[in-house]
Amino acid sequence: MSEFRRLNAGRRKFLQDGAAVGGAAALAGLVPSIAMAQGAGKVKIGMMLPYSGTYAQLGVAITNGFKLAIQENGGKLGGRDIEYVTLDDESEPSKGADNANRLVNRDKVDVLVGTVHSGVQMGMVKIARESGVLHIIPNAGVEAATAQLCAPNIFRTSFANGQPAYPMGKVAVDKGIKSVVTLAWKYGAGEESVNGFKENFVRHGGKIVKELWVPFPNVEFQAVLTEIAALKPDGVFVFFAGGGAAKFVRDWQAAGLKGKIALMGAGFLTDGILEAVGGAAEGIETTLHYGDGIETPKNKAFRLAYAKAFKLQPDVYAVQGYDAGLLLAAGMKAVKGDIGKKKEIIAAMEKVEIDSPRGKWRMSTAHNPIQDIYLRKVVGLENRVIGVAQRALDYPPASKCKMPPH
Ligand code: PHB
Repeated sequence: MSEFRRLNAGRRKFLQDGAAVGGAAALAGLVPSIAMAQGAGKVKIGMMLPYSGTYAQLGVAITNGFKLAIQENGGKLGGRDIEYVTLDDESEPSKGADNANRLVNRDKVDVLVGTVHSGVQMGMVKIARESGVLHIIPNAGVEAATAQLCAPNIFRTSFANGQPAYPMGKVAVDKGIKSVVTLAWKYGAGEESVNGFKENFVRHGGKIVKELWVPFPNVEFQAVLTEIAALKPDGVFVFFAGGGAAKFVRDWQAAGLKGKIALMGAGFLTDGILEAVGGAAEGIETTLHYGDGIETPKNKAFRLAYAKAFKLQPDVYAVQGYDAGLLLAAGMKAVKGDIGKKKEIIAAMEKVEIDSPRGKWRMSTAHNPIQDIYLRKVVGLENRVIGVAQRALDYPPASKCKMPPH
């Protein structure tokens, strides 16, 4: 069975188990009276994520993580049962707003969760701002979502694109890397990731030799690898993720560049791909807000529970989905499941401390995590934490968001 199919089979079983628990609780009269009083409708959650294409595994990991958090919350939110409406957004920006609109205005979801791709995210943010629906972003880092376009109903549990890349700029200089070529998919996430790195690298005296781009989701890297070999920089900073990252890391080794030029990136480069690349990533250092081996009871428990439920190792995407579930659970608990009390839900989500596998964190006033960025190194099948590159990073600064009063 393919990895993706195995994942989905696990997910189906998990859903069935969840449904059985919910049914039994209802029969036993355990549904809290407040939910009964409201007509006890289910909380409808729209999951708009990529389930096909280069980011498919990311969408699955986020979904798994989210459902694990809900399951650990008794399979409910504020005492109410849950109905999921799932939509494959294909990481296709041109369909982003229409798909989000379908979930909000046709399917009437109470909460909109998604997505991975920054371009698709822009469409979701538009619909969230127009409709006021409660919206949680479990990956896409497009900075505007928690800066110029920030809104009371929009929360992010992941990162802003430049946030995990920024600390790598200083790490590189500290390692003696003076000249860098940047290489990324040419769209919002690639551009903002490169900008975050560049800002800090140049500030500390580094020099960008050249910026190279590949159209998303293209994985034909031969031409750019040839150019890099000719330019001979000290290092290369890249943004690729998912299937594209796995292909790039393999191609880098095959081109004979491994060990000759330092390969760096925000940690998306090596997260969730280590089994697939069979050793090609060994030794790569990246910066990210998560690392597999974080030595906390919370991370250990999370990794065990996730592996047990899905027969798969979790990665940063699973953590972000899990934290989205924790965040929503905190909001719904504060109103005992009354989704109509949006102001109170938002207030609770703004002040909760998320007890995450990545470490405890809170929202900035722009609704983006203020979080530690770790330095990690690939050792075997692990993105091992070897230090903290920057503590409590708020990036871009929350002051870029003029949050409307709410
Ligand atoms: C994005 O498009 O915002 C994005 C996608 C995949 C990642 C990180 C950011 O791993």
